[in-house]
Amino acid sequence: MISPSSGTLRSSWSRARRALVVATAGLLAAAGLIALPNTADAATTLGASAAERGRYFGTAVAANRLGEAAYASTLNTEFNSVTAENEMKWDATERTRNSFTFGAADQIVNHARSRGMRVRGHTLVWHSQLPSWVGGLNANDLRAAMNNHINQVMGRYRGQIDSWDVVNEAFQDGNSGARRSSPFQDRLGNGYIEEAFRTARAADPNAKLCYNDYNTDGVNAKSNAVYNMVRDFRARGVPIDCVGFQSHFNSASPVPSDFQANLQRFADLGVEVQITELDIAGSGTAQANSYSRVVNACLAVSRCTGITVWGVTDKYSWRASDTPLLFDGNYNKKPAYTAVLNALNASGGGGGAAGCTLTYTETQRWGDRFNGQVTVTAGSAPISGWTATVTVHSPQRVSTTWHGSPTWDSSGTVLTMRPNGNGALSAGGSTSFGFTVMANGNWTAPTLGSCVATA
Ligand code: G3I
Repeated sequence: MISPSSGTLRSSWSRARRALVVATAGLLAAAGLIALPNTADAATTLGASAAERGRYFGTAVAANRLGEAAYASTLNTEFNSVTAENEMKWDATERTRNSFTFGAADQIVNHARSRGMRVRGHTLVWHSQLPSWVGGLNANDLRAAMNNHINQVMGRYRGQIDSWDVVNEAFQDGNSGARRSSPFQDRLGNGYIEEAFRTARAADPNAKLCYNDYNTDGVNAKSNAVYNMVRDFRARGVPIDCVGFQSHFNSASPVPSDFQANLQRFADLGVEVQITELDIAGSGTAQANSYSRVVNACLAVSRCTGITVWGVTDKYSWRASDTPLLFDGNYNKKPAYTAVLNALNASGGGGGAAGCTLTYTETQRWGDRFNGQVTVTAGSAPISGWTATVTVHSPQRVSTTWHGSPTWDSSGTVLTMRPNGNGALSAGGSTSFGFTVMANGNWTAPTLGSCVATA
């Protein structure tokens, strides 16, 4: 478990430690004693950038893709956490009752742990990818089978898993907030979730225990039902440490406007929140903007400890035609990748208490220019002012700005914007400023810099 501020503390500590290491290495290098490592790499991958913010950045992995060189190198370079996309599910680990197979799951766990990556366990009790024999058991047998499954699978990886999705997708979609029908629900009743968590705690006391679901990303009937369950568990001492928000988004189900507020209300129950299966249908700037919003929301919630995208490359996504991931089918970085990296690297208040974060949107384009809008969002505490930096790419020049007081560096490309009557923001509140960029042939989107908040 982490304290409310430990993400921020860890982030400051890791920055200070890195600065010390870099400074010391610089002195030794100057004296000709060592060769400097490529420190630029540390801040230019998703995992390293997230680590600087006290978080992990993970991906779902398929064991049968690890032999593909580009897949493995992208995974190894960019990510510092993995989730088995299918290999730890019930139909993969216990297809026949009490006969366990761990080959593919072992492959993923070994690949990750030998490279210092953490592992999320997914998933123990779920209505889907469940072998048919489970559905044929009576209540007593089913209870024994559920607990045995948890004990065997968690026992196999005891001490090696950061967080387990103990129960997955136990609530119905729609407005009822009711439990979903499943062999567990139908035969064991509401208490099966609590029982699964208690069994899981004993099976691996070091793993954080999560409830994981989809369409719970904003405040709605389904997330309210999950919220009430988690609140009840916390009140009664049922062991639960984290809630996973799958965050599968598309145009019919976009990133909700209250995403951050929803994460925060769960965090306020004392659990970690994790974004566990992120993917966002689309392409280009629109997709990139949605990804930044998700990352900024996580950064603004100190108990949001990490983000996992649901796959390395679009070509192997469970919904490949939606191109929902950060790398295209040829492992090229997409605008969404750059947006995520920029959001992770945007320094300053860090989006935690008295922090702020920035998001960029292109709002209009003509033959020679485009308008950009930067949204400033306060973290989990109100702020009285903010200072934001944005860099345009030469030979671009900004011809006009609005809703802010601009100053420029000597090159004329780094804009520092301060409020013009729009400095005070409530916790999670936002404002925006805008500008026109004369492209001069260069249509690269501006790069967001820091957002520094005044408490
Ligand atoms: O392994 C078999 C293969 O032997 C067979 O030839 C082939 C043809 O049917 O199927 C293969 O299994 C498929 C498996 O993925 C591995 O590729 C299953 O049919 C297919 O249903 C399964 O889909 C997975 C899906 O969960 C099943 O519910 C997706 O890969 C996986 O991304 C998806 O992940 C879920 C999370 O676990 C929970 N949240 C939602 C998320 C997306 O649906």
